[in-house]
Amino acid sequence: MQKKRIAVIFGGKSSEHEVSRVSASYVISMIPEDKYEIVKIGITKKGRWFLFEGDTSLIADGSWENDPGNRTAFVSPAPSVSGIIVVNKDGSTEKLKLDVVFPVLHGKNGEDGTVQGLLQLSEIPYVGCGVLASSACMDKIVTNIMFEHAGIDQAKFTWIYSYDYEKDPEACISMIESQIPYPIFVKPANAGSSVGISKAHSREELVKAIEVASAEDNRLLFEECIVGKEVECAVLGNRDTFVSVPGEIAPAAEFYDYDAKYNNSASQLFIPARISEELTEKLRDTAAKAYRALNCEGLSRVDFFVTDDGRILLNEINTLPGFTSISMYPKLMASSGIPGSELIEKLIDLAFERADNNV
Ligand SMILES: Nc1ncnc2c1ncn2[C@@H]1O[C@H](COP(=O)(O)OP(=O)(O)O)[C@@H](O)[C@H]1O
Ligand SMILES: [Mg+2]
Repeated sequence: MQKKRIAVIFGGKSSEHEVSRVSASYVISMIPEDKYEIVKIGITKKGRWFLFEGDTSLIADGSWENDPGNRTAFVSPAPSVSGIIVVNKDGSTEKLKLDVVFPVLHGKNGEDGTVQGLLQLSEIPYVGCGVLASSACMDKIVTNIMFEHAGIDQAKFTWIYSYDYEKDPEACISMIESQIPYPIFVKPANAGSSVGISKAHSREELVKAIEVASAEDNRLLFEECIVGKEVECAVLGNRDTFVSVPGEIAPAAEFYDYDAKYNNSASQLFIPARISEELTEKLRDTAAKAYRALNCEGLSRVDFFVTDDGRILLNEINTLPGFTSISMYPKLMASSGIPGSELIEKLIDLAFERADNNV
């Protein structure tokens, strides 16, 4: 059987560029080389695309960027190419057909429907959510509105445009305070990895938090602070979904901020989460419901809060969750009977399945 050619895209113009490199190294290590020829495409932080033919070990720390063999390469939107155009050093170009793409990109310009849109145009099957689910899940305001419509419980929320705040800060502050009690979580609609998120305990802190969040986006979300466990489910599938056992994160910091996520190993994981069987079942059902409500396909990690009095509140859906050897998504799947290499193969199969169903 001829090998299929899979491209793994990593890096990206995103605040989660570094995490993506580590995720991609893991994903590449799990792709069976007897079945697939792997093409590695790196995107720098500035947004330059390269075909990287060096050793996979150079991806995680970013040193791949210094490889003298790197050639500019980009996915063509033309279905007639259905692959990448590689620019040689002498300026000539080559086409390289791809059978499937795994965009291992987190955050903006990769997890948000942009790259998915390009792959859609190119008619190359790709792993993970499509354009709509990717962009809807990246935007915390849109996600909350969709959850509300689907009747899924979540923290009380409201939102504003940052330029309305600049025009009339007083009015915005009173509107927010009239709806949400302190402490208030302030989040840019589009960010990821806790960038720009703060917890405001007073009006003074709220003003600061708005400034911080405004640096990331011009739409800002305000949420009631939920006291409870952070519990996550890994979901896999297109029309039929498989939901993993739930896992719990006990953050070392006051909340699960960027530092706690990636720099501080003191955050603890519990798999399965320390919740009752009844809550576990309810949580898994809600995860599947939220996944469907947002039109997710392929994979997503669905994140909840579980309060001590047994309420389940949805926090967010990550359509391309962290995929490193210590990440929750692969760990939850492994604990549910789907180890890394099998998981990657299933994800690739789901990409083909969706492409077949969409014609
Ligand atoms: N409404 C909330 N109540 C309590 N904690 C929250 C709330 N929203 C966010 N957090 C904390 O902040 C972290 C990051 O927020 P989240 O919305 O998940 O953004 P990100 O997309 O950056 O992961 C969460 O993991 C949690 O620890
Ligand atoms: Mg989160």
